[in-house]
Amino acid sequence: MASQARCLVLALVVLSPALLSEIATAQPPSAAEIARGKYIFGATGGCGCHTVPKQPVNAGGRKYDGPFGTVYSSNITPDRETGIGGWTDEQIITAIRLGRRSNGERLVPVHPYTVFNGMGAEDLKALVAFLRTLPAVKRANQPKKITVPMFESVFLPAWLAAFAPQETPPTGVPTSGPARGEYLVRAVGHCGECHTPRTMTMATDNSRFLAGNPKGPEDSEVPNITPDKATGLAWSEEEIADYLGTGNKPDGDVAGGLMGEMIEGTLAGYKDLTKADRLAIARYLKTIPAVKNKIGK
Ligand code: HEC
Repeated sequence: MASQARCLVLALVVLSPALLSEIATAQPPSAAEIARGKYIFGATGGCGCHTVPKQPVNAGGRKYDGPFGTVYSSNITPDRETGIGGWTDEQIITAIRLGRRSNGERLVPVHPYTVFNGMGAEDLKALVAFLRTLPAVKRANQPKKITVPMFESVFLPAWLAAFAPQETPPTGVPTSGPARGEYLVRAVGHCGECHTPRTMTMATDNSRFLAGNPKGPEDSEVPNITPDKATGLAWSEEEIADYLGTGNKPDGDVAGGLMGEMIEGTLAGYKDLTKADRLAIARYLKTIPAVKNKIGK
């Protein structure tokens, strides 16, 4: 009896919570979870920044120039050597929402962790389960070229502490209504990364949320999508939802550039969002403050 009790105590000590959760996550994800992950992957625009157009999906190497230098997106295929195949779920989730790699290195905020931080735990887990089902591609990451001295040791931590807008992770994932639209726009769809103007420090200026950026990523001109009558988005909710599903604008034109890419996605994109989710996004866009900011001619 006594030895049995000792065994039990030992077992309880050995099966620490960390180990227990490891055992729990060791079960293969269900088909439903993988499908949910693919849906979320689409809702981010297909993680397109990690794919050079017409090259293997998620293999990285797409170039981004910033005021601090040049970075190349990472290989996020399940290749164990050059991708994220050797990382635990927790390590991948930490990189997505906190911008830390498994070796402790910081990611530059070109990867939008300051907003992905607002993604719900179930969505992140499902996303990782989906990423693991994709073909592994062996392609070494290209080192970044930082031109600002002490950028990573001094500037980046100070910048993150002072300026980077931090979303708070939701306790659960909102499934309907305005909260769903807000969640898809602010966190998963990260619309603000392109559509919100930036301050002198290059942080998004959230006092002018989605008011457009004359010089957005890859030098794109990104329109004002606040409800401002003169300079913003005047489309109906139905028209916005259709645009996100097809790329067709009410005037007969089609989405181009980076927005076209986000809608089309890679293995999935905004176009694969349900009508209900596209309408939730459209309705949410009607509720944000109108900001006068003329982009383009
Ligand atoms: C990677 C950058 C990027 C992201 C992320 C992004 N957009 Fe866009 N968006 C653009 C660009 C660039 C255009 C202009 C496209 C064009 O010229 O056809 C655009 C155009 C639009 C338009 C058309 C506006 C007009 O007046 O023509 C709408 C509506 C829109 N985006 C909504 C969204 C929503 C909602 C999200 C998030 C779910 C989002 N965008 C995420 C870059 C982005």
